Amino acid sequence: MSNVIYYFTGTGNSLAFARKITKELGDTKLLNIRHNQNELDATQYERVGIIFPVYYYKMPAFVESFIRKLTLSPKQYIFGVATYGGMRGISLVDLRELLQEKGCSLKGEFSVFMPGNYIVEYGAFPDFFNNLLVSKAEKTAKRISNIIKMKQPSKPAGPRTFEKLYLSRSGSKQFIIEKRTGFGNMDSGFNSDTNCNGCRACEKVCPVNNVSIENGHPVWEHRCEQCMACIQWCSRKSIHYLDKTQKRKFYHHRDISIKDILSLEEFIKHL
Ligand SMILES: Cc1cc2nc3c(=O)[nH]c(=O)nc-3n(C[C@H](O)[C@H](O)[C@H](O)COP(=O)(O)O)c2cc1C
Ligand code: SF4
Ligand code: SF4
Repeated sequence: MSNVIYYFTGTGNSLAFARKITKELGDTKLLNIRHNQNELDATQYERVGIIFPVYYYKMPAFVESFIRKLTLSPKQYIFGVATYGGMRGISLVDLRELLQEKGCSLKGEFSVFMPGNYIVEYGAFPDFFNNLLVSKAEKTAKRISNIIKMKQPSKPAGPRTFEKLYLSRSGSKQFIIEKRTGFGNMDSGFNSDTNCNGCRACEKVCPVNNVSIENGHPVWEHRCEQCMACIQWCSRKSIHYLDKTQKRKFYHHRDISIKDILSLEEFIKHL
């Protein structure tokens, strides 16, 4: 194959977008970072894509550590797509700098506004708005794919003016650092209610094996990445964050199911 796309997703937005780009480009291998931790040599591909959600204005730590291990070549057309729910922040600057450290460059920098999924902070946007964002994202995928096909350099996609203003405040920087360093332990606030039937989906869907089932209920082991997969894919809507999420609307991408998130092996065990 000529191209490869590595993606990370919690609730399916980044996967849905990665699938669209894969289809438009053709001849492209699509790899979930979560299930392909050992596919670390990407030098054989002409184009390499990295598609991920924005977490507190930055790239997820899980994606960053994977890219650090990936072998790339300076000759390749490397592109990144950040899917975000309102502010892309410095997520693509993170990726650009990381690739520079590896002697490569980020030739295509793209971002796409998708439905927000961070139920810990807010419930899902209304359906009409989410549908609008998803339809717009599909058009964006076509436009971006043409640029990628031609291997054209894109404009840098750093923070926008209003984001720069926000991010330049020392209080904001501190807030982001505190939030992100607190991710691991935020699962102390997760709990499952009496709707839980012990199906183990939350355990299987976690990208960092942070959930185990004990006495028929989930237990979190404090290395959480805050991806929201366990909460948003629980078919019983049984998982909550403290007392904040009980009345909030859940979200996952409309075209993605839990089957698409799990590896085949995990899915068979889940049946
Ligand atoms: C922990 C966390 C932090 C987030 N921070 C941001 C953010 O800083 N800016 C933003 O626009 N969206 C933010 N979001 C929303 C996601 O970036 C957005 O919904 C993304 O498309 C989800 O992708 P996924 O479905 O592939 O997981 C955040 C979501 C989570 C779970
Ligand atoms: S996915 Fe939901 S119902 Fe299934 S074990 Fe986890 S909390 Fe319980
Ligand atoms: S515990 Fe839940 S929110 Fe945390 S990384 Fe695992 S699936 Fe994501």
